[in-house]
Amino acid sequence: MESMTFVLFGATGDLAKRKIYPALYNLFIDQKLPQSISIIGLGRRALSDAEFQNRVEQSIETFSRRVEHDYSKMGEFLNAFRYKVLDVTNTEDYGKLLDFVEQREEELHIPENRMFYLSVAPELFDGIALNIKESGLGSTTGWKRLIIEKPFGHDLESARDLNVKLSKAFEEEEIYRIDHYLGKPMVQNLEALAFANPVLQALWNNQYIANVQITASETVGVEERAAYYDGAGAIRDMVQNHMLQLLMMTAMHLPKQISANDIREEKRKVMESLRPLKKEDVGLHVIRGQYSAGEIHGQPAAGYTDEPGIEASSHNDTFVAARVRIDNPFWNGVPFYIRTGKRMKEKSTRIVIEFKDSLKELYRNRNEQTEPNLLIIEINPNENVSLQLNSKNPLNDGKMEPVRINFTSEQEGVPEAYERLIFDAIRGDSTFFAHWKEVELSWEWVQPILEAFEENLVPLHLYQAGSYGPEAAHHLLKEDGFKWWLDK
Ligand code: BG6
Repeated sequence: MESMTFVLFGATGDLAKRKIYPALYNLFIDQKLPQSISIIGLGRRALSDAEFQNRVEQSIETFSRRVEHDYSKMGEFLNAFRYKVLDVTNTEDYGKLLDFVEQREEELHIPENRMFYLSVAPELFDGIALNIKESGLGSTTGWKRLIIEKPFGHDLESARDLNVKLSKAFEEEEIYRIDHYLGKPMVQNLEALAFANPVLQALWNNQYIANVQITASETVGVEERAAYYDGAGAIRDMVQNHMLQLLMMTAMHLPKQISANDIREEKRKVMESLRPLKKEDVGLHVIRGQYSAGEIHGQPAAGYTDEPGIEASSHNDTFVAARVRIDNPFWNGVPFYIRTGKRMKEKSTRIVIEFKDSLKELYRNRNEQTEPNLLIIEINPNENVSLQLNSKNPLNDGKMEPVRINFTSEQEGVPEAYERLIFDAIRGDSTFFAHWKEVELSWEWVQPILEAFEENLVPLHLYQAGSYGPEAAHHLLKEDGFKWWLDK
């Protein structure tokens, strides 16, 4: 792996502390970092290198999935870290940063391979990118890359605007947009599941599949993020990115080759085939919800509008369910349902594929009931794939009962999403990053929903904290003769 410089904007922030330092540390322990790496943390407050290294160490002690007790390793790791004060709007600071980056490159004999990770507020993305370009930091003889995190814009127009600005400083191939769902092992496994198994591949279409249900439910509420979340809602926070990425990964067709480009091409085709919603029709296919007071695991939970920082009049969506149609020959007639919400009964991210039950009648004539076959892909917190089949239970007079076959079990020591994604970015593998085209098409699909919510064209259904969301979300499936599976 090529030696490189890793420049981290927002080095004293929360994401750096919780995710980025532990990820770098675990990569280091697994010998997945380049032999020579210069890591330069940037922030507003003044810190010495020693103070900064101390913070990094603390964050590893607190948040890393493991800590090696061989202290020489920690010392070696921390030794790569330096800190500089930088005001992101001050062009002079970028000039000084360039000098320092070059100085370290010389000291460590590192070629001009530079990764810029913007772990800062999204309003700062374009300004920083421009300064990287104008200061000469981005004029390297090696490669340069930019890592950014959602939100990529606030709506279609602002997302396009941001992209135009970023593309003045970085080529599309140099931009790594993190969607941490794409770093989850089971999401990465979706491709293998569907394409490396002829048994499943043969069934992965509208001839055999009745519907697909993608759920990401959370038990947490708005937490301390009122300022951001109340202006974003579940639609921007989860649907525009994570939920549509899960949908793309499930619905994409077999690519010509298993390569970043071919996979992205297939994902793009899915997004291009999504049936667009008209603003006036949003209410027919999209359910908007907001949690009211209730109970989570026996503990009382406040309603959304009673949360700190939220106005009593807020109409913000903390829950969204939608019926999505994909107009292509593989998925015509197969509804994809997505559902996500805060303060729901359980934390669960999963995809349930319901197969058509074409033999139901055969057994109904014998007064026996079969359940549809289900392929259940659990992503979080458990990682598991199971298949639900019908089987006779000899202990129950040979009655037909659904049985589940589990394919995977929990494994220890699996790298976290940020480890995988940072490792991929270092290697220059962009398979599991969001391409601009996917982001733009997602915003295009979501835009009428944003407008319908904004203009209150869609009812806001309250649901009790600790429930599975508003009744209306159950009706959405009932209309098509289906139900959400696995709601207990
Ligand atoms: C983030 C959202 O992107 O994803 C959060 O901003 C949400 O609101 C989180 O809680 C969920 O991620 P995970 O990995 O816990 O499912």
